[in-house]
Amino acid sequence: MLKLSLVTGLLSLFGQLSEASYTTTSNHSENQSTNVAQDSSAFRPGQVWKDESGEVINAHGGGLLFRNKTYYWYGEVRGEKESKGVNVYSSKDLYKWKHEGLALATVSDSTSDIVRGCIIERPKVIYNKKTGKYVMWFHLELKGKGYEAARAAVAVSDKPTGPFVYQKSFRPNGHMSRDMALFVDKDGGAYHIYSARENYDLRIVRLKDDFLNPTTQDTLLFSNHREAPALFRKDDNYYLITSGCTGWAPNEASLHVSKSLFGPWEKLEDPMTGPKAKLTFGGQSTYVLPVQGKKDAFIFMADIWNPKNLKDSRYVWLPIQFKENKTIIEWKDKWDLSVFR
Ligand code: DGJ
Repeated sequence: MLKLSLVTGLLSLFGQLSEASYTTTSNHSENQSTNVAQDSSAFRPGQVWKDESGEVINAHGGGLLFRNKTYYWYGEVRGEKESKGVNVYSSKDLYKWKHEGLALATVSDSTSDIVRGCIIERPKVIYNKKTGKYVMWFHLELKGKGYEAARAAVAVSDKPTGPFVYQKSFRPNGHMSRDMALFVDKDGGAYHIYSARENYDLRIVRLKDDFLNPTTQDTLLFSNHREAPALFRKDDNYYLITSGCTGWAPNEASLHVSKSLFGPWEKLEDPMTGPKAKLTFGGQSTYVLPVQGKKDAFIFMADIWNPKNLKDSRYVWLPIQFKENKTIIEWKDKWDLSVFR
């Protein structure tokens, strides 16, 4: 018990120190300008991104879902510090986004896990063909408990735009669950990838057919203190991008590849190139989007956190290139989908 609280104390101190250094060294500099993205047919990583009504997009630590010829972007709704739930935006072209509202909102009921004051992070939504339900998983921290609860939580909707109905929260197979991703494989099987054991372990668990519950097929991927998992599949290879654990401060990303979701995973070279590449361009991975209708077209998504005002955190979307067996994510100030064949 004493050992655990010592570790927790050191982790929290480390988080605070790295947040302090982040605020003096970073904050939308170098790669990012404070310009607003002007045109609606290009991505401008690191710049303010507004929705169709002119409001700044508030969907951090997010992920996308493609259904009925439409992309849905789900992400954390942030105030300056507080967590307000999950926003959903829709788009046909990935450049212009319509705010569809709050997919999941925190509530006033003090007996609910998602009472205002809780922390909702890294929401991801997948569609279950068997049940016809949209299933959201997110990292939940209970009100007033900091990051101690370390739970995965589930909500369900009949429509991609919600409202999602909160179901429950738990630690998958008894393991802590903080940063997380969901992945649906070609055979329709779904998986939850999550940071466990105070973020020292990254684990993967297959979900039951309803996507609402974990199975016991739950494996350790690696124990090297990783978070922010983003998993994708190209041909017969699975790729996994993760970050280190330095609170809101950026650090070096890593890329692993495997022929099987349950490993073994082989570490590849850091794919990031360009200014601040060794700090993931000042960002932290959140998702990799397979672009519809284009072969081998994937977009790497990251968040440039602003811990002083989380709502003002920026988005980095960059194309993933595969060149001579190398995976490359190169910084671009501006780009569009024509980079993909
Ligand atoms: C890093 C995680 O990736 C974020 O989602 C968030 O939990 C911060 N840590 C909190 O410090």
